[in-house]
Formats: sequence, structure tokens, C-alpha cells
Amino acid sequence: MNVLITGGAGFIGSHVVRLFVEKYPNYHIYNLDALTYAGNLENLVDIENKPNYTFIKGDITEEAFVNSLFGTYKFEGVIHLAAESHVDRSIKDPLAFVKTNVIGSMILLNAFKECWKGDTTSKKRFYHVSTDEVYGSLGETGLFTETTPYDPNSPYSASKASSDHFVRAYGETYKLPYVITNCSNNYGQNQFPEKLIPLFINNIIHNKPLPVYGDGNYTRDWLYVKDHAIAIDLVFHKGVNGETYNIGGVNEWKNIDLVKLLCKQMDFELGRPKGTSEQLITYVKDRPGHDLRYAIDASKIKNELGWEPSVTFEEGLEKTIKWYLSNENWLKNVTSGQYQLYYKKQYR
Ligand code: NAD
Ligand code: DAU
Repeated sequence: MNVLITGGAGFIGSHVVRLFVEKYPNYHIYNLDALTYAGNLENLVDIENKPNYTFIKGDITEEAFVNSLFGTYKFEGVIHLAAESHVDRSIKDPLAFVKTNVIGSMILLNAFKECWKGDTTSKKRFYHVSTDEVYGSLGETGLFTETTPYDPNSPYSASKASSDHFVRAYGETYKLPYVITNCSNNYGQNQFPEKLIPLFINNIIHNKPLPVYGDGNYTRDWLYVKDHAIAIDLVFHKGVNGETYNIGGVNEWKNIDLVKLLCKQMDFELGRPKGTSEQLITYVKDRPGHDLRYAIDASKIKNELGWEPSVTFEEGLEKTIKWYLSNENWLKNVTSGQYQLYYKKQYR
């Protein structure tokens, strides 16, 4: 089976690509990625020469190119992760998010529809990877379920909500076989150091301030990235067409508590006296439209598909910190921009 994974050079995508390439030697995995600032083929060096893996550099917003790919490879499965993914960037440049997350997703959907040809007996499937941010913000209590109304607050979440709506609409209108998952905050190795956890790890290493937005009393539900990849595998193979599944860590942390835990673990790993890293905490101007709390009710995926997180937060955070500390070159290449120069030379 030819499976197209978009955004496979990014954070979550690289874990999904690796899992599929290693677990399914009878599949051929095509990783389509534009290698934006967030795409890094260093994330996949260990599998780049596997016979069932092909990397294709390309942009999902280029319609003729995407159509020709589907014409050539007749993908039977699509797992769509490519996106602009950082909320702060979406506040500065919303249109970039519309282009990739909305228009790019539409171009993929149309190409898949053409390739599927309305054959309701085929096993082909379009899997759209989305986020819990489409549901907006929770108050102090309650959980997001699959039926929580959409109420996005940032240009990023609005663009993801828009693409989710189009996927659903194609399911209703053309009976296109699809599944959608909405996942909470991921963390783990290979995450670009603009997101909270890797940014703060990098800043602690270099004794730089830790910019906590507002009063730090914002809550997120954290999931180890490899557990997300396992859930994606499960939904891709066992999920029911036309369904949405929420994926979450059942692991809520207020930002400030998480940052203090991170500081404690970093002091331990770096052999610094207790309390050293906490002194770097600096409260800064809040993110505009900052969602107070996200928390997922993951009972549907647990009851119907038997998935639950396998890694506790303490274990996952320790693994993550150890990975960043023993891969300082990865961090250096990413923060200096070196990784882009290298791969730009290789791929046009
Ligand atoms: P990321 O920013 O690390 O990676 C995105 C990847 O997409 C990069 O490799 C980038 O080069 C590629 N890309 C961007 N624009 C492209 C384009 N026009 N054409 C082709 N490739 C393009 O993102 P991530 O954190 O790994 O998130 C992956 C997906 O999961 C996204 O759809 C995101 O909305 C969703 N998601 C992320 C989280 C999270 O916590 N990170 C949680 C839930 C859902
Ligand atoms: O919930 C899923 C979403 O999680 C994904 O869809 C997004 O792609 C992903 O980026 C993430 O969004 P968040 O905005 O929650 O993640 P981020 O790491 O940017 O921020 C986490 C929290 O930490 C949030 O409340 C903002 C805060 N923060 C973030 C940064 C970068 C700070 O206080 N300081 C910072 O410097």
C-alpha cells in the first residue's frame, strides 16, 4: 500500500513516519514536506535509506504538483500533518496559516477525491490530523469531547477548524472516506524550540530568561509525542470512517507549575544547585487571545480503540530533557539555521 504522510519532516510527522516505516515493511511511505523552518530531515536520518521510504520535497499549496503526485503514486492512504503549527506565528502572519492549513488541505482533499474516484468499496482513507484548539478555551472545569462546538480563538486554530470543516463536508457531500483526530499539546524529542518545553530547555541550557506569558496560570493537557504516533497508527487502521477521535494525555498542568518542574529536572540533569533555573523565570506580556485551558476527554478512543497514553509525564519529560541534552548539535543546527542550509543544498 502506498501511504502519503504530509509534514513528515516536522515534529509529530517524523515520529509517525518512523513508526510506519519500521512497523509496516509491506507499505511504501512517501513523506511529502516543504521543509519550511519547522521541517528538518535530521529528524529522520536513521530511516532515510530504508527501501520502503521515499522523501519528496514539495509544497501542498502547489496544486499541479500535488495532483501529479497522486496521479503517479495512486496513494491508498493519506495521513495529513503538514501545517503551520505555532500560535504566536499565526498572530503575526495569519495569511500564511490560511495558505497552508486551509488551501493546502483543500488541494490535498481534491487530489485524494480524484484518486479515490468515489469508489465506496475501496479501503482508501484520508486521515486529517487536527488539534484540540479548535474547541476554543475551557474554564476551570469541563473537558473537550468530540461533540464540543468549535470555537477557535487564534488564527492558527481558526485555520485548523476551517480545514476540519472541509474534511467533514467532503465526507457528507461526496462520501469521501475520512477520519479526523483532535489532539492536545505534544512534547518530546525533535520539537522545534519555539514551543514552550523545548524553548525553555534550550534557554535553561544557555542561562537565558524563561518568558512565561501573563501570570502563567494557563493550563494545557500534555501528551508524549510517541503516544500520539501510536494513536495515529491505531486510528488510521481501526478508526471508523466519518468519525472524529479526541486524543489527550489526561495530564493537565498549569504552565507555571510545568515550568517549575522542568527547572527542577534540568537542574538535576545539569548538576546545577537546586533552584538555579527557576531564577530565570520572567513574566512577560501575555499572548493576545490566550486560551485559558485545554483538556481532553479521551474516553472515546480508549473505549472504542483501546488507546491510552503509555508514558507518565515525569517519564516523558525526563526522556525529553535527556534527548535534548545529548543532542545539543541538533539544537545548535536548528537555532543557528544550519539545518536549512544543508538540506536546501540537497533538495534544490
Ligand atoms: P511542525 O510545525 O513541527 O511540522 C510541520 C511540518 O509541516 C514541517 O515539517 C513543515 O516543513 C511542513 N509544512 C509546513 N507547510 C507546508 C507546506 N505548505 N507543504 C508541505 N509541508 C509543509 O508541526 P507539528 O507540531 O509536528 O504538528 C503536526 C500536525 O499536528 C499539525 O497539523 C498540527 O496542527 C497538529 N497538532 C500539533 C500538536 C502539537 O502539540 N504540536 C497537537 C495537536 C495537533
Ligand atoms: O493544543 C494543541 C496545540 O498545542 C497544537 O495544536 C499547536 O500546534 C501547538 O503549538 C500547541 O499550542 P500551544 O499554544 O498550547 O503551545 P505553546 O508551546 O506555544 O504554548 C504552551 C503554553 O505555554 C501556552 O499557554 C502559551 C505558553 N507559553 C508559550 C511560549 C512559547 C509561554 O508562557 N511562553 C512561551 O514562550
